[in-house]
Order: sequence, then structure tokens, then C-alpha cells
Amino acid sequence: MKINHPNSSYLIINPTNKLEETITLPGDKSISHRAVMIGALAEGKTEVEGFLEGDDCLNTVKVFQSMGIKIERVDNNLIIYGQGLRGLKKPTDVIDVGNSGTTMRLLLGILAAQRFDSCLTGDESIQRRPMRRVIEPLSQMGAKILAKDGNFAPLEVFGNPNLAPIRYFLPVASAQVKSAILLAGLFASGVTSVIEPLPTRDHTERMLSYFGAQIIKDDMSISIVGDIPLQSNKKIKVPGDISSAAFFIVAACLVEDAEITILNVGVNPTRTGILDVLKEMGANITLENQKMICGELTADIVVKSSRLKGISIRRSMIPRLIDEIPILTVAAGLAEGRTEIREAKELRVKETDRIKSMSTELNKMGAKVMEVEDGLIIDGVKYLVGAEVESYGDHRTAMSLAIAGLVAKGETKINNVACIQTSFPEFTKTLKNVQM
Ligand code: S3P
Repeated sequence: MKINHPNSSYLIINPTNKLEETITLPGDKSISHRAVMIGALAEGKTEVEGFLEGDDCLNTVKVFQSMGIKIERVDNNLIIYGQGLRGLKKPTDVIDVGNSGTTMRLLLGILAAQRFDSCLTGDESIQRRPMRRVIEPLSQMGAKILAKDGNFAPLEVFGNPNLAPIRYFLPVASAQVKSAILLAGLFASGVTSVIEPLPTRDHTERMLSYFGAQIIKDDMSISIVGDIPLQSNKKIKVPGDISSAAFFIVAACLVEDAEITILNVGVNPTRTGILDVLKEMGANITLENQKMICGELTADIVVKSSRLKGISIRRSMIPRLIDEIPILTVAAGLAEGRTEIREAKELRVKETDRIKSMSTELNKMGAKVMEVEDGLIIDGVKYLVGAEVESYGDHRTAMSLAIAGLVAKGETKINNVACIQTSFPEFTKTLKNVQM
């Protein structure tokens, strides 16, 4: 494996037939974002261990610093000096979230309730991602948000400190939209409820509960009682990110002679669709040492070389593995028989259109991936061949193609890989470590 520069524009991957190592992975991205946001709104100090220092989460840190929150690194921990629910200050400049959809959408819920107005933007990819899904419920609460064509960043938020609670049926299963509404609900007087069409990742409600917020869960509805201060002096231990683990889990399944152990991974059941699906495909995966830490379930994951077969993945499973579908496409590409991933249209509005990126690029490597409107139909092949492929600036596409390169015949060149920094800065180093 060769990487031409730390901020490199390409990555060269050569095949391997042995993987063996015990590894730990960087902190969970979703939990790291929430730790900063909720910590900033708590009444004092929050200490975060295992914070993900990827570009996306560092953007969240910068945004809250620009609103007067002191955040510092002490040893390996991040310390956030929260100022309470009404303690944010008007940012001095336009807020730039970079590539981070989670920052932009969750932040909207907080900014909607402020005494000040604010402007938000981000990179080219974020400016193409739909924001109406968040603007709509927040407007129902009394916020005023202006967007390009009513849907896209740049956004102008006119803060309203007197938001009204709502009961909102989510039209799309989205944890980001749910979280934005719950965060806005923190500031509204009364009970704000969100009803989900399918369960999505529940880190926001878990962390809010951990900080003393009143969260009520009832079947598919999640409610928050507003205007209750969040407690301080909390310590958060961020588990390893299962979305990052997924690359190494699939690599271990596909490489001929592999056994890897990934320590301390977050295995919150709203995130473990990838484990369930891979096991159904025949993967040799076991969980050991399960523990509950700061309201989140963690485990060590052991994976051995496996013979995979194709399966059908439908609507109810999609939110539990939405970010893992690019790497799952690689696994399916080498499984025996057909895998269908359907009712997964959300993939088209991620950092890039992941239905198009994965089908186009894996086919360059000899895979048989058919793009359909709402997903992918994949007929497994015996082997992939190295090729020059493109990430489209999408971190998960880039890393999935790197794993495909690891099990392809010949050399693979992946262009445009600086995006890996957004979620997994140590990816190439870890990939080197697991190869014998
Ligand atoms: C996230 C929710 C998901 C996921 C994203 C992170 C979160 O997005 O794809 O990477 O942290 O809440 P949606 O809510 O748009 O499904």
C-alpha cells in the first residue's frame, strides 16, 4: 500500500491474503458530534474520552467555539465548558460546517431557538444535500429559516427563543431530522414528540437522558420535556465507530486467511444492521465482552474469513446500516449469488450519490452491480480486478474501494482520498497494521 502525501489525492492498494491483528478504532462520529453539542448546552464542564478527531467533528468543535464555548484538549480528552441552555453567543462570522451533514442538521435545531440570527454554509457537497426535511418541522415550531430554493444551504436562521412544542411524524427515517427536532424541543416549553417510521440511531435521546433531560420513549415516538437544564460534570466515553469497523469486518470476511479483533466498538442495536446482515450472509462474526458505557452498548468484535452468500435487504433494515451500504456492496460483490439492496433511496442524498458511486466504480473492478432507482442489485463474481477508481470526495466510497482493492487481483488506485479525513484519519495506518 502506498499513500503519496498525508493530504493525499490518491491511494494505491495492493492485494493481500492474510489479515491478523487486534485493533482499536477512532471514536464514533455520531456520538462525538452529540457530545460537543450537548456538552455546550449543559451547565458546566463535560469531559469526553475517545472523541473522534476527524474533520467533521472538528468542524462541530469550531462552530461551538465560534459561539463562545470554550473547548480544549487535555491529554487525550476533550473538555467542553458548557454555558447552559441560554449561553450561546451570536457567532462572529458565517458558520461553515465543511462536509458535515450531521453538524448542519442538528445545529439547525439549536440555532432555531437562539436569541440571535445566524448564517450557515458548507462545502460543495453539503450545498447539494436536502435541508427542507429539517426546515419544515422547525418552522412548525416557530422558527424562520431561509434556504436556497427552500431546501439548500447557504441558510439564514432567524432565532426564536420562544419555540412551541410539536408532535411530528417523520416522513423519512432520519436520525438527523429527529435529533434536530429533539434539540429544538429542549428549548420549547412543553413536550415535543417525534414519531419515526422506522427506528433510527438513538444516540441523541440516549445522551440527552444521560445529561438529565426528560426523554419519554413509547413505541415509535420519542418525546422531550423542554426547558429543563442539562446537568454538568459528565464524563463521556465514546466507543469505537461501528461504521469505521465495518471496513475491517468486511475485509476480514473476504481475505483468504484472516482473523481480526476490533476492541471496544459501539454496538447500539440501532447501528448493528451490518453485523446482522453479514451474519445472515454467512460471516463468521462473534461479539465478546459486551458492556454498557455511558448509556451505549459496546463490545469487542472478532471476525474470521468467511464464505458469503447473497441475500435480500429491504426497508426495515436500511436505517440500521445506511452508512455501511457502500462496504456491504463490496461484500455482496464477492458473495455467492445475488444480493438485492432496495428501498434505500436515501443513499442518493449522502455525501455523494452512493448508489451511483458504488455501482460505477465497483464495475470498473469487474463487479456486476446494477443500479436501480432505490438501490443496488449485485451478482457476486469470483474475483475483482484492480483498476483506477474515483471516490467523488466521499469518505465511505473511498474506504470501501480501498477494501475492494485489498481483495482484487493487481493494483488499485483510488483517486481523491483526502475526504477519508472526515471520519477516519488513521484509516491507511490501520489498514497497514492489519496486513501481515
Ligand atoms: C447520522 C445519521 C444518518 C447517517 C449519518 C449520521 C447521525 O443520516 O447517514 O452519517 O449522526 O445522526 P440521516 O439522518 O440523514 O439518515
